[in-house]
Amino acid sequence: MDYDYQLLHVVALLTLIAFGGTSWTIEACSPNELEALMSFKNGIQKDTSGRVAKWIGQSCCDWEGIVCENATSRVTQINLPGFISTDTDLFQTQMKGLISPSITLLTFLEIIDLGGLVGLSGTIPQTIGLHLPKLQKLYLYGNNLTGPIPESIGELPNLQELALQENRLSGLIPVSLGSLKSLKRLLLYSNQFSGTIPDSLGNLMNLVELDVHDNALIGNIPNSVGEMQALEKLDLSNNLLSGKIPSSLTNLTVISVLYLNTNYLEGTVPFPSRSGEMSSLGFLRLHNNLLVGNIPSNIGYLVSLQRVSLSNNKLEGALPSSLGNLVALTELYLSGNFLSDQIPKSVGQLSQLIMLNISRNLIEGPLPQEMSSLQNLQTLDLSFNHLNLSAIPKWIENMSSLSNIYFAGCGIQGQIPDFFQRTNSPIQELDLSVNFLSGNIPSWIGSLNQLYKLNLSRNSLYSDIPDSFRNLQDLGILDLHSNRLAGTIASAFDIQQGVLGGSLKFVDLSANNFSSGIEEIGGGQCGIQFLNLSHNLLKGRLPNSIGKQNSLKSLDLSFNELGSNLPEVLGNLTSLERLKLQQNHFTGKIPNEFLKLLKLKELNLSNNLLEGEIPERKPLIDFPESSYSGNKGLCGKPLSPCKV
Ligand SMILES: *[C@@H]1O[C@H](CO)[C@@H](O)[C@H](O)[C@H]1NC(C)=O
Ligand SMILES: *[C@@H]1O[C@H](CO)[C@@H](O)[C@H](O)[C@H]1NC(C)=O
Ligand SMILES: *[C@@H]1O[C@H](CO)[C@@H](O)[C@H](O)[C@H]1NC(C)=O
Ligand SMILES: *[C@@H]1O[C@H](CO)[C@@H](O)[C@H](O)[C@H]1NC(C)=O
Ligand SMILES: *[C@@H]1O[C@H](CO)[C@@H](O)[C@H](O)[C@H]1NC(C)=O
Ligand SMILES: *[C@@H]1O[C@H](CO)[C@@H](O)[C@H](O)[C@H]1NC(C)=O
Ligand SMILES: *[C@@H]1O[C@H](CO)[C@@H](O)[C@H](O)[C@H]1NC(C)=O
Ligand SMILES: *[C@@H]1O[C@H](CO)[C@@H](O)[C@H](O)[C@H]1NC(C)=O
Ligand SMILES: *[C@@H]1O[C@H](CO)[C@@H](O)[C@H](O)[C@H]1NC(C)=O
Ligand SMILES: *[C@@H]1O[C@H](CO)[C@@H](O)[C@H](O)[C@H]1NC(C)=O
Ligand SMILES: *[C@@H]1O[C@H](CO)[C@@H](O)[C@H](O)[C@H]1NC(C)=O
Repeated sequence: MDYDYQLLHVVALLTLIAFGGTSWTIEACSPNELEALMSFKNGIQKDTSGRVAKWIGQSCCDWEGIVCENATSRVTQINLPGFISTDTDLFQTQMKGLISPSITLLTFLEIIDLGGLVGLSGTIPQTIGLHLPKLQKLYLYGNNLTGPIPESIGELPNLQELALQENRLSGLIPVSLGSLKSLKRLLLYSNQFSGTIPDSLGNLMNLVELDVHDNALIGNIPNSVGEMQALEKLDLSNNLLSGKIPSSLTNLTVISVLYLNTNYLEGTVPFPSRSGEMSSLGFLRLHNNLLVGNIPSNIGYLVSLQRVSLSNNKLEGALPSSLGNLVALTELYLSGNFLSDQIPKSVGQLSQLIMLNISRNLIEGPLPQEMSSLQNLQTLDLSFNHLNLSAIPKWIENMSSLSNIYFAGCGIQGQIPDFFQRTNSPIQELDLSVNFLSGNIPSWIGSLNQLYKLNLSRNSLYSDIPDSFRNLQDLGILDLHSNRLAGTIASAFDIQQGVLGGSLKFVDLSANNFSSGIEEIGGGQCGIQFLNLSHNLLKGRLPNSIGKQNSLKSLDLSFNELGSNLPEVLGNLTSLERLKLQQNHFTGKIPNEFLKLLKLKELNLSNNLLEGEIPERKPLIDFPESSYSGNKGLCGKPLSPCKV
């Protein structure tokens, strides 16, 4: 096979490099080491790379994945990574089996690379620290290892890299890790470690990267983190850490990445008190915590910042005008706080900014015209503040990169302004929901040919859906619910007529006054997953073509005037999780085909004119009575038995 051939090729190449082209010594390995490697081999049940199967004979130094010291023939490296890359190709191999504790007999080992083999299970050998004094790199990441990190690991004076991420390891982070004086990278993320972060880690003066995100760590961030002078990257996010962020962090002068998001950290944000401190910090994520107080104006010293997220905290007060000093900033997320006052004019200096999200705060209007100089801004979300804009400022049309515009709940009145059709950048997402917009949906919207998401819900728009919507080839999400729209729903539905397979995934036209077009729902396109047409005045029968919409997960046609029999083909919609047809005029029996809807979690057929026996099997018998009540003559489980 190609695959094996390539693998051989790589190994041959590596061997050539390792031996510098000199003739190799075919010498037997020491019996101890042979035995250790054989025990390792015996623990492996499956190795899709075929490397271990070729471990035959006595000359273990010639085996694939084994490197020896020239002179002594002692094994110094086990290199069997799961992810193999060559100049031309990348591939992933798998190994299943238990990692044998016998590898600790290979006392000259400097590198163990068994990373990313996916199926390797078992525990990290208990005595690993006692027998491998030369070990520099231990890569066991991306496997299926369980159990704790042995305390003995602290006795590996030469260990530089410990990569145990993405396993199912548990227990405490051993205090003894603080003794690993040479350690540069400590990667324990995506495991099940619990307990606190030991103080002793502060002793790791050479540590460049500490990443323990995605575990179940509790307690405070120890103050001693500020002592790790070499630290460039610190990621403690997605744990259960609490308390204040230690102010000693500002001692980390070379740090460039700081991620503490999604914990229970509280108190104020410690930023440096003078310029120069933490001036390398490029990435700062503190979102989803319980931080209080203002955004300190010292943030302006962090001049390397590129991405900042402080969303979903309890920050308050005005945005400091020193934000304008952060000229490298590309993304700024501040949503979900209690930030108030106006947006400072200095924001206009953030010429690299691509994403600005200040939604769900208490920001007041008007918006500074200086914002129009954000020529790289692509996404602007100002939704749900106290902006009371009345109108969308006209200078928006001069922001040449802006394509995702979120102005929900901004107090916008009047008609949808037509300058959106003149913006230099093609609009992809437009959310003007929860405003006071009235008048028609303008037909030029159909010419926004890159539009993917349109949300005009909860306004007072009347008119029908313009025919031009049929041109919106890329439209995926259409939410027009809770307006006063009338006429036919058809213009929303025969978009694309199957030509492109249909990009529309989500349609909510509920709570309007639409009265016709139901027969169009089978149309051409088939990718739709969510459809809500409830609370309209739709009449007629459901067309059989609805059976083609087999991507549907949620279908709500409740509170309309639909009638006639329930089509059997509804049973073809086997992805359906929610089907709401209550409060219509459907007649006849519940088709037996409904028994095919095995994913259904919510069903409501109440208040129709249905009769006959409810098909007596799962999933139909598992719904409550109120799913069926108020019909003409339904009987059987969960309602009362049918009369015989
Ligand atoms: C192996 O031996 C060759 C010459 O015999 C020497 O040049 C090379 O540096 C040695 N390699 C190692 C890793 O000791
Ligand atoms: C990991 O181990 C568990 C049992 O301990 C097993 O059920 C699971 O299939 C293993 N996963 C992989 C990817 O081998
Ligand atoms: C921060 O650095 C200063 C001087 O560089 C030092 O005196 C202080 O102890 C350090 N604080 C911490 C918590 O490491
Ligand atoms: C802005 O942030 C909020 C909260 O994190 C999020 O729900 C929303 O989707 C973001 N807006 C955009 C346009 O990404
Ligand atoms: C919003 O602005 C309008 C006019 O600019 C003003 O009449 C109205 O009182 C404002 N509403 C609030 C809640 O501030
Ligand atoms: C948009 O930019 C042009 C050219 O720079 C300028 O003349 C015009 O006044 C600007 N429009 C607004 C509304 O700021
Ligand atoms: C449209 O906006 C409303 C109100 O802001 C929101 O509740 C709804 O989730 C949005 N629709 C989509 C599809 O995002
Ligand atoms: C729908 O139309 C009816 C009568 O034409 C009207 O009374 C009702 O207010 C309209 N509903 C909406 C949400 O516009
Ligand atoms: C459909 O829309 C109505 C009215 O807007 C809403 O009450 C209902 O929850 C929606 N149905 C689904 C399945 O989301
Ligand atoms: C419904 O599925 C059956 C097979 O399960 C198929 O023969 C039939 O054509 C489908 N009907 C529709 C309308 O897609
Ligand atoms: C079904 O709809 C009716 C009427 O809207 C409601 O009273 C009932 O609680 C609903 N039942 C279920 C199970 O959703």
